Amino acid sequence: TTSSTASAISRITVIGGGQMGSGIAQVAATYKHSVTLVDVSQEALDRGKGYITKSLKRVAKKKFEGEQAQTAFVDEVLGRISLSTKPDAAVSKADLVVEAVVENIKVKQDLFARLAAHAPATAVLASNTSSLPITKIAEPLGADVKQRFIGLHFFNPVPQMKLVEVVRTEAADKQTVDSAVEFVRAIGKAPALCQDTPGFIVNRLLLPYMMEAIRLLERGVASPRDIDTAMKLGAGYPMGPFELCDYVGLDTIKFIVDGWYREGEGLQGNPLFRPSAKLDELVANGHLGVKTGKGFYEY
Ligand code: CAA
Ligand code: NAD
Repeated sequence: TTSSTASAISRITVIGGGQMGSGIAQVAATYKHSVTLVDVSQEALDRGKGYITKSLKRVAKKKFEGEQAQTAFVDEVLGRISLSTKPDAAVSKADLVVEAVVENIKVKQDLFARLAAHAPATAVLASNTSSLPITKIAEPLGADVKQRFIGLHFFNPVPQMKLVEVVRTEAADKQTVDSAVEFVRAIGKAPALCQDTPGFIVNRLLLPYMMEAIRLLERGVASPRDIDTAMKLGAGYPMGPFELCDYVGLDTIKFIVDGWYREGEGLQGNPLFRPSAKLDELVANGHLGVKTGKGFYEY
């Protein structure tokens, strides 16, 4: 028990074992939480477990001398993660549910309606959405659930990036926010509190920067390589904007800016987010960045 009003979170269920969900599961388990990772098929779960194992081995190499200690660490953390294809059962004892499935409002709304019916009445429910309003995801839920609903926005790669945005809606109560902040600290990350507005803090600033870099390229001002070198060496960024676009995924970038341009609250028609012919062409040709082997660069 804790003396604060926040209830301590120890059992986490992560829904979606892709790039983000597997990272979230890994980090929570590394910090001694008991984790259940849920996806739609055993194949997807095996893939997620593969990401986690690979990343843990990388961490272990830095943390421990000798193969035996490294293997013991990897096995210990993996031992705290169970895999499931049954979301209803997987949330039945959760203190916190973190959703990291596809960026689709309908899928997320339907999923939470179902999870809310099976999770404990005290569980905190969180979405890791990059661009959808937290309030809208929670819209179909009852008032008793909305007060326990929050945004927990992690960054890619999750094991490396120290920030988690804690996004509070009008309906979220203080205890939920406090529990979420406490959880973020307990997994070795730093929380940044933010209102539920498009892009929260990081993406609201990052997406205009990425789009402006693409527009520099479209105007023939400089090559991707020179723009990346300029931002890395001239502004101290770890990756240039084109490396970062390729890393995040060009489909994701396009999905976010198109959504905001069309219907983002306060952002409709904002020229910062107007479509880019270059980006549209790459996505239409299936060049989505690192994950497909080609984006602005070849991999
Ligand atoms: N798991 C475990 N460890 C990892 C890792 C992973 N997935 N990825 C990198 N690391 C470790 C490496 O082992 C390495 O450790 P040591 O330095 O101790 O050997 C360390 O991290 C650095 O890795 P690298 O040397 O390979 O590469 P780097 O120094 O260039 O760092 C980086 C990699 C941390 C990704 C860095 O380039 C960076 O910070 N890039 C910017 C990332 C960023 O902006 N992310 C946000 C994207 S936006 C988003 O996520 C929000 C959204 O909604 C779209
Ligand atoms: P991803 O495609 O790598 O993974 C999504 C996973 O969810 C897949 O394994 C898929 O099988 C699974 N899934 C789909 N529907 C499901 C359902 N109904 N139940 C259980 N599992 C389901 O995607 P990702 O990059 O990990 O993104 C996940 C979420 O995180 C999205 O909302 C995205 O906007 C957000 N996000 C992404 C990034 C990023 O840089 N990729 C950063 C921050 C937040």
